[in-house]
Amino acid sequence: MRYTTILLDLDGTLTRSEAGITKSALYAAEKLGFTGFTQEQFKAFIGPPLYVSFREVVGMDDAQARQAQVYYRERFSAIGWAENEVYTGIPHLLRSLKKNGAKVAIATAKPQVFAERIAKKFGLAPYLDAVIGPGLDGTHAGKEEIIARAMQMLGGVPVMVGDRRYDVEGGRANGMDTIGVAYGYGTEEELRGAGATHVARNVGELADILLGGAPRAEGIFLSVEGIDGCGKTTQKDALAEHMRELGWEVVTAREPGGDPIAEKIRSLVLDPENTAMCDETEAYLYAAARAQNVRTLIRPALCAGKAVVCDRFVDSSIAYQGGGRMLGTGEVAALNALAVDGTLPDITVYLRMEPDKALSRRLHASAPDRLETQAKNFYTRTFKAYEALFAEEANRRVATVDASMPIEDVTRAMLEAVDERLGTLI
Ligand code: TYD
Repeated sequence: MRYTTILLDLDGTLTRSEAGITKSALYAAEKLGFTGFTQEQFKAFIGPPLYVSFREVVGMDDAQARQAQVYYRERFSAIGWAENEVYTGIPHLLRSLKKNGAKVAIATAKPQVFAERIAKKFGLAPYLDAVIGPGLDGTHAGKEEIIARAMQMLGGVPVMVGDRRYDVEGGRANGMDTIGVAYGYGTEEELRGAGATHVARNVGELADILLGGAPRAEGIFLSVEGIDGCGKTTQKDALAEHMRELGWEVVTAREPGGDPIAEKIRSLVLDPENTAMCDETEAYLYAAARAQNVRTLIRPALCAGKAVVCDRFVDSSIAYQGGGRMLGTGEVAALNALAVDGTLPDITVYLRMEPDKALSRRLHASAPDRLETQAKNFYTRTFKAYEALFAEEANRRVATVDASMPIEDVTRAMLEAVDERLGTLI
C-alpha cells in the first residue's frame, strides 16, 4: 500500500449523517428566530465548522453564531448524533486496511466526544487507532490543525480522505496526499478544484486507491442457533438489519437450504411423509445441503467481503442429529468436516430456551413438519447437546442470549453481544 496512515473525515466519508446535522442546525436557527430555511439548504452544514456555516449559510453575526452552536449541540447530543448510517463497504474497507497493517484514524471537525460515540455505536471503533476532533468549546477546530495533531500521534506515510474541500485543503496544508470522495456531500468539481490527489466516486474506488493489490479481508460469517420455538426467525432478521446499519453488505442464508439443489434436499429432509428416513440418511442429507450452501453461497459472499447471516449451521446438526437422534456429537461433527471444509461462523448467536418453554410456544405453530412431531425427549436431548457444545465455546464465538425474555429484550441483548464480539474480530 502506498499510504500507511489513513486519516478519514467522518460525516460524508464514513457515515451518511445529514439527518442529524441538518435537523439540529434547523433547530438552532429557529430558536434564534432564523426561520424559513429547509433541510435541503442546510446540507451545507455537513463538513465545515458549525460556526462558519451559521455565519455564511444563515447570515448570523458572531454572537448569534456562537449561541447557535450551543443550541445545535443541545439537540445533537440528545438525538442528532445517532441519526447516522455507515456507507456500505466501509467496515470491510477498514478491516482490510487493518489487516495490511495501516494506521487508521478519524480526523473530523465534529467534536471529538461525538465522533467517538458515533464510531462506537456504529461498529467502527475497533478499526481505529485514534479519533481526533475539536473540543466541545470549539478549540482546535480547524481541519489543518486537527490533521497536524493526528500526524504527530501516528506518523507514517499519510493520506487524508474526505468529502469536502476543507479536508483536501487541510491535508495539503500539512503536505500530504489527499483523496476526495465524491459520494459524500461535496462535488467532484469542488474536490478537484481544491487540488485532491485522487477522487473516488464510491467506496469501491476508495478501496482500490488505498489498497491497490493488497489482500482484502474476508467478510463476516454469523449464524443463529437454538431449538425450534426459540424465536430464531425474528432475531435473525433483526441481526441482518443491524449488520446493514453497520455498513455491511448482507447476504442471508438458511440451513438446510441455499441454491436450488440445497433447497431440494431441504424439502426431502423436512417432508413429514418421509417417516422411514434413517437417522444416518438424515444426517448426511443435512451435510449434503450444507456442502452445497457453503460452496455456492456462503464462501463466495465471504470472499467478496460481505456479511453472511445464516439461519442455523453445522451446530444444528451436532445438536439435532448428534444429540437429538443420538448419532453422537463427535460423529456428526466428523461427517460434516468435508461439507464445511473450514468455513465456520465468526460469531454464533445461541438463543437459549428450555425445551418445555420452546415446545409450548410451538403448540401455536402451523402444520408440524417431520422433525417437529418428534417426542419431547428428542428436544431435550437436542437442547442438552447445544448446551454442552456452546459451554465449551463460551466467550469465544458464541453469544448466548436468554431467549425467554420479551422479544425486544432478546434483540437488545443479542445485538449488544454481537457488537462486543465484532469489536474483537479485526
Ligand atoms: P428451521 O430453521 O427451524 O426451519 P423453520 O424456519 O422451517 O422452522 O429448521 C428446520 C428443522 O431442521 C429444525 O427442526 C431443525 C432441523 N435441522 C436439523 O435437524 N439439522 C440441521 O443440521 C439443520 C440445519 C436443521
